[in-house]
Amino acid sequence: MLPEVFSGKKILLGVTGGIAAYKACLLVRELKKSGAEVHVIMTSSAAEFVAPLTFSALSGNPVIINIFPENQKSGSSLGTWHIDLALEADLMIIAPATVNTIAKITYGIADNALTVLFSAMRSPVLICPAADMDMYNSPASTENLDTLERRGYYILPAEAGELASGLKGVGRLPETEKILEAAASVLMGYKKDLTGTKLTITAGPSYEDIDPVRFIGNRSTGLMGYSIAKAAWLRGAEVELISGPSVYTPYPELKFTKVRSALEMQKALIESSGRTEITIMAAAVADFRPAVVSDKKIKKESSAGSIALTENPDLIASIQKQGKTIVGFALETDNEEANALKKLSKKGLDMIVLNSLNDAGSGFEVPTNAVTVFTSDGGKKEIGRTSKFEVANRLLDQIMDYRKSYGKS
Ligand SMILES: Cc1cc2nc3c(=O)[nH]c(=O)nc-3n(C[C@H](O)[C@H](O)[C@H](O)COP(=O)(O)O)c2cc1C
Repeated sequence: MLPEVFSGKKILLGVTGGIAAYKACLLVRELKKSGAEVHVIMTSSAAEFVAPLTFSALSGNPVIINIFPENQKSGSSLGTWHIDLALEADLMIIAPATVNTIAKITYGIADNALTVLFSAMRSPVLICPAADMDMYNSPASTENLDTLERRGYYILPAEAGELASGLKGVGRLPETEKILEAAASVLMGYKKDLTGTKLTITAGPSYEDIDPVRFIGNRSTGLMGYSIAKAAWLRGAEVELISGPSVYTPYPELKFTKVRSALEMQKALIESSGRTEITIMAAAVADFRPAVVSDKKIKKESSAGSIALTENPDLIASIQKQGKTIVGFALETDNEEANALKKLSKKGLDMIVLNSLNDAGSGFEVPTNAVTVFTSDGGKKEIGRTSKFEVANRLLDQIMDYRKSYGKS
């Protein structure tokens, strides 16, 4: 899914003794599929939940459980294996991380292979805690996680939901896709640098109903907008996502508004952008809608073969821009740059992101994008073809740089 980021990277996956240890198997599979080299280090409690053989088969490498390799049947290089692995690694992920292991690494205890390795790490570490809600929310665990975050480790918080104990609360290990996206963000060098920043992001197409069965839509899948929302949240921002119909699922922590038509999106956008300082409009909203929506399916015989259209409101014009940073998207097929620059000045935008349908691997229905970003002060920067998640992060960097140049944080 994010092969550009993981390809050729050496990733150490620490697995501890929580019920969510089985989810780490999927993580190994996805990392391997993305071209990463994966080494799994388990605690002895983790081996009570999932057999080490599963991880060695999935990773293609021996699993390390004991500090002293000569005790290991699976075998590994002798000597200072922990230092060798730690020095060579690009990233360590601990998923799931038990409250016990979190406490140990907070206090520098190094009494098993995983905690020894952690203490020797130079590269970034992503910690994904998971536990029963009372264990997760205990004062000791809360303080330990805060301490680790302050020290520069990246904490992906547990999610709320039904727990293995049958209780409902915060403690669930996030889905594999979210852990991978967090890992990608950390590998790209990001931490929670957008903490305190509030963003509104629009995504997806609009569907303009003709009758109860048909609508006028477009080919937008929403992936670009969802990627910006995810990237911003992972970097600590508070994110409000307004989405037209899309197959993608937002992170549960986002304030999410699902809409269908341009009019519904306009209403949600006016409310949301009033609360936030940055608005990024990645949705592909229809310029026109049917003048009349039939409440019954239009019959072939009764239709004259044409549909009267009326113009949708200009969403950018409907929001208050004073003191805010407003970023638009332009998808063009011809005279790309001239059209994008015209939209930038006519609509009073701070930035415009140009996608050209003439670039292979750019625009709708593809996981990658290549864009050119123009700013109201004459700036022009290209982001070459890469995953939409990486484009999202680089666009956020440019937005923050632009804001800084105007004295906004
Ligand atoms: C069925 C079962 C499920 C458990 N699930 C978790 C869990 O999700 N999170 C956690 O922090 N501890 C959990 N524990 C407790 C840990 O296994 C225990 O604290 C252990 O010492 C952790 O060792 P480790 O950190 O070395 O892996 C569970 C225990 C049992 C018996």
